[in-house]
Amino acid sequence: MERLKSIILAAGEGTRMKSNLPKVLHKILGKSMVEHVICASKEAGAQEICVVIGHKGESVKNAIGDFVTYALQAEQLGTGHAVMQADAFIEEEGDVLILFGDTPLITGKTLSSLIGFHRQEKNAVTVLSAIVEDPTGYGRIIRDQSGTFMKSVEHKDASGEERSVREINSGMYCFRARELKQALKEITNHNAQGEYYLPDALAIIKEKGMRVGALAAEVHEDILGVNSRIQLAQAADIMRRRVNEKHMAEGVTIVDPAQTYIHEEVQIGRDTIIYPGTILEGHTVIGENCILGPNTRIVDGKLMDGVEIQYSVVLESEVGEGTTVGPYAYIRPHCTIGKHVKIGDFVEIKNAVIGDYTKASHLTYIGDADVGQSINFGCGTVVVNYDGQKKHRTVIEDQAFIGCNTNLVAPVTVKKGGYIAAGSTITDNVPENALAIARARQVNKTDWKNTK
Ligand code: UD1
Ligand code: CA
Repeated sequence: MERLKSIILAAGEGTRMKSNLPKVLHKILGKSMVEHVICASKEAGAQEICVVIGHKGESVKNAIGDFVTYALQAEQLGTGHAVMQADAFIEEEGDVLILFGDTPLITGKTLSSLIGFHRQEKNAVTVLSAIVEDPTGYGRIIRDQSGTFMKSVEHKDASGEERSVREINSGMYCFRARELKQALKEITNHNAQGEYYLPDALAIIKEKGMRVGALAAEVHEDILGVNSRIQLAQAADIMRRRVNEKHMAEGVTIVDPAQTYIHEEVQIGRDTIIYPGTILEGHTVIGENCILGPNTRIVDGKLMDGVEIQYSVVLESEVGEGTTVGPYAYIRPHCTIGKHVKIGDFVEIKNAVIGDYTKASHLTYIGDADVGQSINFGCGTVVVNYDGQKKHRTVIEDQAFIGCNTNLVAPVTVKKGGYIAAGSTITDNVPENALAIARARQVNKTDWKNTK
């Protein structure tokens, strides 16, 4: 395999974001912009990645982690200068992709076409271009009459005729490493902005008689940069549409794609139907024939086939086949819920195992508990799992029946088939098939009203 590295420029301040957070750390579908670019370059086969940091570099570094290399650009003197800071990372062999941390829509597919074209044409450098409606502000790609690449000129340095060109420089390139390394030594800042322009490397390499090419991206959205919150929302809109369309193409019904937010890594089985206001995050995996939403948030959840969830939140938990959740249920982390379970309205479950066919239909809290199969929780059951210092576990065995408004003070066990009278506060274990009544007896004071 040929060597491929990528350098991602992320040193700029991003003043127009008006943010304390570095621009490249703003998120789209749960992942920072620079991480989207890292993923795309990995997908295209980059074996090593260097991120050029500057403005608030430490926080960028902390957010990304140490699986990439960093180069520091203390002062932002231009894109050419930024790449110069990564000189030690650039080898003599193979190719180097240059990418921006604020163009999150770039895909592995488009980068792969760029690399493929670059290698096939045996170019020393290939710039990724795009044909856009309004090229204002961008560098322009100037070709001769035969369509051969001539140069890239910055908007501020361009003549009137050059400004009318709609093919723009995306700022992304595939360089032969050796040629990039050499060209970096020759870039100057003699231009309208007094910056070290990376696009000058194209002219420098061409001057030496080597092949320089430009490949127009098939999907011009891929190259969109984010400079403001408005553009952040526009990029998010495009990314959301892409992800949703991928799932719809695979047989998932999304009732209103404009109001459904699915993170890139989420997997969804066919014939699942998703209603508006649903947010599927992280590494969530959804089975077939599920009905999700409206207004449901699932983070790192695993749902088997035929699960129905409405107006509810599920965090880091598993839900078995044919189980229904909600409306208004809250499944907190580390729950394993069995098959054909009913978790009804205003039920909260945390760190608990719930067996098949069990029902908690309304107004119940189950925390730190091992709950068996075919158990019925009456309305208003509370597992009292916390004594103010420690959390304790509650065990409820198969076929138990928990009457309405029961408190189960942990640690406590209800054995198989145990039956609890409504309104009980259970502090001792309940034996198998026993009825536990733990409340004060009722006293009726006859004719009480008239004696007052
Ligand atoms: C650049 C290109 C232009 C292209 C456009 C596409 C140059 C000189 N011009 O212009 O041809 O059409 O991108 O969007 O390259 N950065 C650093 N350090 C610096 C300067 C920039 O890390 O010293 C980073 C920025 O954080 C940003 C990216 O490089 O992510 C692009 O910089 P920016 O100043 O926005 O370049 P443009 O003027 O848009
Ligand atoms: Ca820009």
